[in-house]
Amino acid sequence: MTDDTQLLIQEDRRHLIHPLHHPKDHEHPLLFVEGRGAMLKDASGREYIDGLAGLWNVNVGHGRGELAEAAADQMRKIAFASSYAGQSNEPMIRLGERLVKLAYPSTSAVYFTTGGAESNESAFKTARFIWKVLGKPDKVKIISRVHGYHGVTMAAMSATGMAAYHKMFGPLVPNFVQAPAPYAYRWPGGGDVGVEAANALERVILEEGPDTVAAVIGEPVMGAGGVIPPPPSYWPRVREICNKYEVLLIADEVITGFGRTGRWFAMGHWGVEPDIVSFAKGVTSAYLPLGGILISERVHAAIQEAPLDRKFMHAATYSGHPVCCAVGLKNVEIIEREGLVQRAGEMGRRLLAGLETLRDLPAVGDVRGFGLMCGVELVEDRSTKKPALGLGPRVVRESVSRGLLPRLRAGSADPPVGDTICLAPPLMTPAETLDRIVDVLREAIAAAAR
Ligand SMILES: Cc1ncc(COP(=O)(O)O)c(C=O)c1O
Repeated sequence: MTDDTQLLIQEDRRHLIHPLHHPKDHEHPLLFVEGRGAMLKDASGREYIDGLAGLWNVNVGHGRGELAEAAADQMRKIAFASSYAGQSNEPMIRLGERLVKLAYPSTSAVYFTTGGAESNESAFKTARFIWKVLGKPDKVKIISRVHGYHGVTMAAMSATGMAAYHKMFGPLVPNFVQAPAPYAYRWPGGGDVGVEAANALERVILEEGPDTVAAVIGEPVMGAGGVIPPPPSYWPRVREICNKYEVLLIADEVITGFGRTGRWFAMGHWGVEPDIVSFAKGVTSAYLPLGGILISERVHAAIQEAPLDRKFMHAATYSGHPVCCAVGLKNVEIIEREGLVQRAGEMGRRLLAGLETLRDLPAVGDVRGFGLMCGVELVEDRSTKKPALGLGPRVVRESVSRGLLPRLRAGSADPPVGDTICLAPPLMTPAETLDRIVDVLREAIAAAAR
């Protein structure tokens, strides 16, 4: 490590609070200085496979000069223009038009944000707004699922179904309620887990009172909760239930959007259309912060037809930021031009097939994936599925020392969840690199278990 790097790291420790901060976890931070494709380089020149595409977001891979140029061109033209009612800008209009066409047949409009949590806050507020416009002001509750991750601003945190994110920040926002997740590996009892989990969600709606429920939110495939793909029966049944009780369905596609699952947006895998889609991350492949919600015709109509004194008083300074939208537009063009959506499906199958071979390791309890997002859940005992808590951090350390950066979903004893190693590399990751991920993970799990 050079003296400069050492000084930077000292300064970091002195002045910075990082996401999920504890100084103990930050004793030996990696300082990345360069990225190319699926590879990252740290300040000492060591290379790593970016096993999580940054934070599930660098979909087109690192080092895309075209995206830098799109940003620079737009900054030279006009770096900022407010998008408040009465003002607009060209990149926002063009990207909005593209996204409405790429999403679901019923998608009709977009509102832009700067990230995932803000998108979900916007989705919750939009759901409440719609019911107020439609004369049902008591429909305010948001139902999410245990193990779901929706960001960590107050309302998004309250929808997030992982207790570790709540512990030091409670109380949660009222009127946020949780239902069980369609977690096949740990579903108690038999039957079709998709139907059972959807029925459990229906029971929550009934207990709360359908007249008080505004929306259900869920990630089509749970990501940060440990990559939990739903059984195929789940979303169609949830959609039916939402229709039956007049509850809006919010798809949190912050990870699954923009090709990650082998479709532009994931609910199409099950022929389901959400009322509201939250997106962020892959819309710019993380080159600049951007997010938003896509809304269906029905939701759009309620906003458009609201009387002036009941208008949509939701906003943010950087909604529709022209530079972020110009980068988003170019990013969508790259995904399309290089066929990365289809590629994610193909390469996801390859990665999952590789990871399946790890089932011979005693610590591997479950291997799952959907598109180019996969999870390997670690257990102490395969027959009881007792979570192997503490093994995950060791596996991550062993992986990093071998040049692979995965992400850990820390497990818990209650509810029982094993530490899960999550992988979601860039959609352009070469096949050989995916195979290498499997090899490294095998070595890392074996070394950590010893
Ligand atoms: C599904 C999902 N929703 C929301 C978020 C929050 O996004 P952000 O960190 O941009 O607020 C994330 C972040 O990982 C996410 O995975």
